[in-house]
Amino acid sequence: MTRHDTGATAAIEITPFTEAHLPGALALSQAAGWPHRREDWALGLTVSQGVAANENGRVVGTALCSLHGAVATLNMIIVDQSMRGRGLGRLLMEKIIALAGDREMRLVGTEQGLPLYRKLGFAPTGVIVQLQGLARAARPEHPVCVGAEATEALAAMDYAASGMERASLLARIADMGVTLTTEGGFAMLRPFGRGHVLGPVIARDKAAARALIAGAATHLAGHFLRIDLPEEQGLAPFVETLGLSRAGGGTAMVHSPRPRPETGWQTHALISQALG
Ligand SMILES: CC(C)(COP(=O)(O)OP(=O)(O)OC[C@H]1O[C@@H](n2cnc3c(N)ncnc32)[C@H](O)[C@@H]1OP(=O)(O)O)[C@@H](O)C(=O)NCCC(=O)NCCS
Repeated sequence: MTRHDTGATAAIEITPFTEAHLPGALALSQAAGWPHRREDWALGLTVSQGVAANENGRVVGTALCSLHGAVATLNMIIVDQSMRGRGLGRLLMEKIIALAGDREMRLVGTEQGLPLYRKLGFAPTGVIVQLQGLARAARPEHPVCVGAEATEALAAMDYAASGMERASLLARIADMGVTLTTEGGFAMLRPFGRGHVLGPVIARDKAAARALIAGAATHLAGHFLRIDLPEEQGLAPFVETLGLSRAGGGTAMVHSPRPRPETGWQTHALISQALG
């Protein structure tokens, strides 16, 4: 545990993030306008280490570092509104960057976070578009199987697309929801925030990705669905035809990128902005 005078009136304690911080962390993300439920924080924690900033027993800052083999995703970086602009965000970032070790680091930055991330050496790699709304049914252009098993083969497709080792995370997500498969791809749908989120969507081509997304929208027709898409894949206009509209997003950024072989597999939707 370290004590820091960040310029605030009281000293702030930075401690390793534990389950005991979850209620305070949830209050912080809700105050920031994020839709995460306690279960959404808990899923991230299964693959993460992190830090919490505490003032008189109250959680006033959080930051997590999720480990996926040679890649780390940095996420849930939040400072209480009353404490912003005093260096606490930078301090929390420095702690989780140390937890990432020599891994490639990725994050999806909000407008507020961008200046800090740029100063810490992160470079933008693309735009993530968040779409959400009440899903409309649509006939998939290829057959889609709903209710498949999370297998090692699916984790291998995900690794080929993302460079991240996350078989156990995918197995957990599959247990929480529904797995869809089609020739040349798979997708996972689970409860998140205000309803459900579709992600990851991993496919070899756009037709397979569209079929998976249409299959998920049909499965969830009439219910709230969210998808976070890499804009460069160009599927946002298609997703809009399924009843979802743009509701923000972020800037994908990387630090210390490693070269990756071209495999032909692509990520068409993220597990979440936090987990990549
Ligand atoms: C992003 C956030 C965590 C930053 O926390 P913070 O405690 O205010 O950050 P700091 O005080 O450490 O400031 C970070 C740096 O960004 C700089 N900065 C902030 N806004 C800036 C701007 N508009 N232009 C240039 N630099 C800016 C600060 O000067 C500081 O630089 P320095 O360390 O070299 O002095 C905080 O604003 C927050 O919680 N926002 C809401 C949640 C969110 O969007 N989180 C990001 C998720 S990806």
